[in-house]
Amino acid sequence: MLLNKKLIGLATGILCSLSAVAHAEPIEIKFSHVVAENTPKGKMAIKFKELVAEKLPGKVTVSVFPNSQLFGDNKVLEAMQLGDVQMAAPSLSKFKKYTKKLQIFDLPFLFEDMASVERFQKGAVGIRLLRSMERKGLIGLGYLHNGMKQLSASAPLRVPSDAKGKKFRIMSSDVLAAQFQAVDAMPVKKPFSEVFTLLQTKAIDGQENTWSNIYSKKFFEVQEYITESNHGVLDYMVVTSKSFWDSLPKALRTEVKSALDEAIAYGNDIAAKKAEQDKQLIIDSKRSQIINISPEQRQQWVNAMKPVWKRFERKIGKDYLEAAVSSNQ
Ligand code: LMR
Repeated sequence: MLLNKKLIGLATGILCSLSAVAHAEPIEIKFSHVVAENTPKGKMAIKFKELVAEKLPGKVTVSVFPNSQLFGDNKVLEAMQLGDVQMAAPSLSKFKKYTKKLQIFDLPFLFEDMASVERFQKGAVGIRLLRSMERKGLIGLGYLHNGMKQLSASAPLRVPSDAKGKKFRIMSSDVLAAQFQAVDAMPVKKPFSEVFTLLQTKAIDGQENTWSNIYSKKFFEVQEYITESNHGVLDYMVVTSKSFWDSLPKALRTEVKSALDEAIAYGNDIAAKKAEQDKQLIIDSKRSQIINISPEQRQQWVNAMKPVWKRFERKIGKDYLEAAVSSNQ
């Protein structure tokens, strides 16, 4: 009798938990980023949301928070480790607290173009770098392109001496600070959300960014000149916390990763096109003058900024640096 009661109790328990699984709330992935929706990262995040809705209905949902709505530059990775956000794609310049190795992407004039960046990211070192923050609880799920950076300012910048004494907003990277110090300029580390106001109020003189960020955040409306310098790269790593990733059932993890890979491929494809389109929109607006420097002038910037590599070589690793150089074919 007692045994029967126990069996009935056990069976009821199993049925209850099965129905709880059947009606379990979908797992929510909050994806937080700082840029506008009409950018490679903004579009990639929306694509990821759509693909997950299509492939994993009822199992996983993605909520996207653009424009620093949920977390800005400085907070998102801490929030991720606390479980308040599950995915983000900070620029590679914003991981300093977690690894020094990713600083490689900030070295001025290291990558000749986006094809070189792509080769490096797809190579052995690039793949290893995705795992470089695992001990700190972060997992890199993939790289996403934005593009090459340009220099904007309230005065024309043609040669390095034009930057002397000027204040430039930079992302929170010591390499970027050294890059501007190398031309006797003053780097100011500030979150992305503050850049427009800093430029508009003339609290700073200039900044470096990609065409799509300069366009979508209207920096071109408050900067008279943009030098097409292509002096560095601004790319992203899509990251999640190890605890969240490990908590997903294996099959689901594989499906989420495949949706993400598809969204990243989509984002990378539009990144190149957007760079060209947004540059043209800025030219057409006539709000900002685009400065094309001569090869000789560009070489002056290279000569002034390239010594920065040596200063960071030990922290980054000579072998990593060599791999990056050899990705320029
Ligand atoms: C910046 O802070 O300038 C960029 O990292 C913004 C972004 O995410 O593209």
